[in-house]
Amino acid sequence: MNAMTPASTARKVHVPLGERAYDILIGPGLIASAGGEIASRLKGRKAAIITDENVAPRYLDALKASLDAAGIVSADVVLPAGEKTKSFEHLINVCDKVLEARVERNDYVIALGGGVIGDLSGFAAGIVRRGVRFVQVPTSLLAQVDSSVGGKTGINSRHGKNLIGVFHQPDLVLADTDVLNSLSEREFRAGYAEVAKYGLIDKPDFFAWLENNWQAVFAGGSARIEAIAVSCQAKADVVVADERENGRRALLNLGHTFGHALEAATAYDSSRLVHGEGVSIGMVLAHEFSARMNLASPDDARRVEAHLKAVGLPTRMSDIPGILPPADVLMDAIAQDKKVKGGKLTFILTRGIGQSFVANDVPASEVISFLKEKHP
Ligand SMILES: NC(=O)c1ccc[n+]([C@@H]2O[C@H](COP(=O)([O-])OP(=O)(O)OC[C@H]3O[C@@H](n4cnc5c(N)ncnc54)[C@H](O)[C@@H]3O)[C@@H](O)[C@H]2O)c1
Ligand SMILES: [Zn+2]
Repeated sequence: MNAMTPASTARKVHVPLGERAYDILIGPGLIASAGGEIASRLKGRKAAIITDENVAPRYLDALKASLDAAGIVSADVVLPAGEKTKSFEHLINVCDKVLEARVERNDYVIALGGGVIGDLSGFAAGIVRRGVRFVQVPTSLLAQVDSSVGGKTGINSRHGKNLIGVFHQPDLVLADTDVLNSLSEREFRAGYAEVAKYGLIDKPDFFAWLENNWQAVFAGGSARIEAIAVSCQAKADVVVADERENGRRALLNLGHTFGHALEAATAYDSSRLVHGEGVSIGMVLAHEFSARMNLASPDDARRVEAHLKAVGLPTRMSDIPGILPPADVLMDAIAQDKKVKGGKLTFILTRGIGQSFVANDVPASEVISFLKEKHP
């Protein structure tokens, strides 16, 4: 692919959120043209780039050169890679660096990295000077299709993941699809689970398209751009309908209740399970559980599993290396993640491929017997 491809070939998804509206550009070569794209949209001419040690050696110089050419002065902070970076310690460091760089209200924080860097930098952008502008340059597939869109930012607490943060929408998202070539196969697959999720929520045709075209999506090129654009549009639609998750936005949690329980059960040890892998297993479980509740056909669950397995994702609890705690411990993790009211849980269930819905009255007793069947 050609890094000099003009950004005009990029796909654009607009997120119409009134005065918080923004564009998502998706395509090759967007890091090389980032300066021009930012300068044509935002007034400020100062930026603090936040990135991590895996991404910086590959893409930081190119981004800085592009900003420089557009007359934007940038400082940068390179943080350790990994989930542990979403901490108070790093937040304080980032806020200080943004202030040192004299980033004013119209200037911006630029997140160059995966979801960890995006969540942490977005939080800093939301609180420094009560909010400065924020540009996302997501570099993982997960960040391009999910975390960079929608304005949820934050860090982890010892009480759990993502418990401290603010809503702070970006002003621009630049998803350079070339950078995904340096992402590990495993991280690419994990992000792909979220792509498949949009099909399973309410886009059965997209799911069928993925079944036929996933190899082309993995290979790169136009199918990859198409899959990312459809995913961003799907996320944007949900966010616009329900920015602060009072209802419909919860659909984005399809597969996540079981997935989060499995992440907790493996102590967030990424050598055993990364988020997208937990979501993959969780989506199969959600379809199987829906079939068990006589809401959907077991054939749909088999179809979901066949596809996720074909791309190389884990689909069963037994695919996770090491020993998992027993079903009642998994159930405790689910009960902690979701509030149990009168023995009932809120779950994302489905009536079939692309027919997910928010169920508020799922009996906890059904979930526990299902888990015991699946993980005796
Ligand atoms: N805000 C939201 O709405 C939202 C949604 C979903 C997930 N998240 C958060 O996102 C985080 C997970 O994001 P992630 O999966 O991107 O993890 P990540 O940021 O840890 O990135 C995964 C790994 O890939 C590396 N990497 C990233 N881009 C690369 C590239 N182009 N080439 C080579 N290596 C690269 C990173 O350094 C890291 O080691 C979690 O903290 C999760 O809570 C947030
Ligand atoms: Zn997710």
